[in-house]
Amino acid sequence: MDSEVLGVKAPATTVTGDHDWWRTAVIYQVYVRSFADASGDGTGDLAGVRDRLPYLASLGVDALWFNPWYPSPLADGGYDVADYRDIHPMFGQLADAEALITEAAALGIRTIIDIVPNHISSAHPWFQEALAAGPGSPERERFWFRPGGGVDGEQMPTDWVSSFQGTTWTRTTNPDGTPGEWYLHLFTPEQPDLNWNHPDVRREHEEVLRFWFDRGVAGVRIDSAALPVKDETFPQLPAEPGPGEHPHVDRDEIHDIYRAWRAIADSYTEPRVLVGEVWLEDAARFARYLRPDEMHTAFNFDFMTQPWDAAAMRTSIERTLAEHAPVGAPATWVLSNHDITRPVTRYGREDSGFAFDRKRFGTPTDLGLGTRRARAAALLTAALPGCLYIYQGDELGLPEADIPRELIEDPMHFRSGGVDPGRDGCRVPLPWTSAGPSLGFGPDGAAAPWLPQPTSWGSLSVAAQEGDPASMLSLYRAALAHRRSDADLRGEALEWIDAGADVIAFRRGARLISITNLGTAPVALPPHSGVHLASAPLAGGLLPPDSTAWLAVEPPSGESA
Ligand code: GLC
Repeated sequence: MDSEVLGVKAPATTVTGDHDWWRTAVIYQVYVRSFADASGDGTGDLAGVRDRLPYLASLGVDALWFNPWYPSPLADGGYDVADYRDIHPMFGQLADAEALITEAAALGIRTIIDIVPNHISSAHPWFQEALAAGPGSPERERFWFRPGGGVDGEQMPTDWVSSFQGTTWTRTTNPDGTPGEWYLHLFTPEQPDLNWNHPDVRREHEEVLRFWFDRGVAGVRIDSAALPVKDETFPQLPAEPGPGEHPHVDRDEIHDIYRAWRAIADSYTEPRVLVGEVWLEDAARFARYLRPDEMHTAFNFDFMTQPWDAAAMRTSIERTLAEHAPVGAPATWVLSNHDITRPVTRYGREDSGFAFDRKRFGTPTDLGLGTRRARAAALLTAALPGCLYIYQGDELGLPEADIPRELIEDPMHFRSGGVDPGRDGCRVPLPWTSAGPSLGFGPDGAAAPWLPQPTSWGSLSVAAQEGDPASMLSLYRAALAHRRSDADLRGEALEWIDAGADVIAFRRGARLISITNLGTAPVALPPHSGVHLASAPLAGGLLPPDSTAWLAVEPPSGESA
């Protein structure tokens, strides 16, 4: 039964009919807190996004993915959800979200929201009830409360290591003041892990999915999607766990959860879409999440973490396409997100790959080089088969910002003992205008943005770039417009062209070649009849280092034009 008919009136939408839209979509990630501040309190909000929908439409995106927009103490930027059925008051109200979904749809843009199944906020009523109810209570069964080891229960139940570094258990205090049980949290103590063997946990999430799907949301991004199921015996970490043997990553039982979610998504007249945040090195295990009755797509972090190196990137592309083919799922291409060092900065460093544990303050960076490479990477990824993600601000070529230590909020920074700068540097409010106290992020007279914008960002603002055909913004707009108009770029065919060890070149369909030069010397362009787009000026038939061109070519003989 189609639950759109129940309760809530589904919004009128112009984004209906194409049930395969997610296979080739361009999805723009909106970090609401830093997108646009309509209220003037220094924090982005939904009204700000609504005001800027024409900008997003003119960029040419098919869908928006919103980071968690729910009420939250923001211990982890909103990934500590206190109420799934409402909007954080600093972002607006539920009615604003409904209006946003409808207005975006009217512009042909779908909405994807974030669901965080592994944990909730410690401020969520369920956890507060569990603390109050005490050991052995049914309220505690929704989480993982365990007695400690040792004489007085002073030892943590396991030695599991947090994804944010450090330990994964916090000890509670009993109502009478004595030390109590421990509870599990793979992230911060403010994010207690849920017990997915508990029927309430499953039911609640399924109802939350319907709640948002009924409001016209086109899909969900599933946070930390490989983590929710735990080994209930709580063993210590094995030295080298085989596939499915890790006590809290990628357990085999997890797939049942997503099969149930897929059935809900498929029950809608316009089927909804599941997108997984699945960090797994094992390609075969990754692909299992994308079987036809599970998720539609998952983020491809393999490519994003590669250094600026032709062999590494080409191998990653081949590996990605090969691992997706057997399950029939499209690949996704992702250059960054709210957790990752911005591409302009990453590619301007000697160590140009990405790993969470390699982030350090003061790493030397050549932003000119990084910008040239980020432009080249934008065209390269936009030419690959599958779905493309753009993190807000990458279309402006924003670098990672240095945040003064005293203003850093990200728990990753604190849990590293202050060694890791954390993720706030990619979460800085966007510059919309070349001048003004918040570069147009907020209205005149608004409070200062919640994170400081570098003063140099005026020249990277939307206003500064809009009329400049050589800007990053113009490049993105042109690339997305071309991708829309060229069916071959949305097809699956990719034929590699050998153009040298430092070059990534491939034909897409009969009429387009994408070629990227990752070497240090210019390379000759293959025969072509024209140039659709280039990330850097071409001279004398040569492609400069750190650039990509999309070439028009004649179809091979025998194929009709
Ligand atoms: C995901 C999110 C990240 C968050 C973590 C815990 O990795 O992308 O921002 O901190 O999950 O929810």
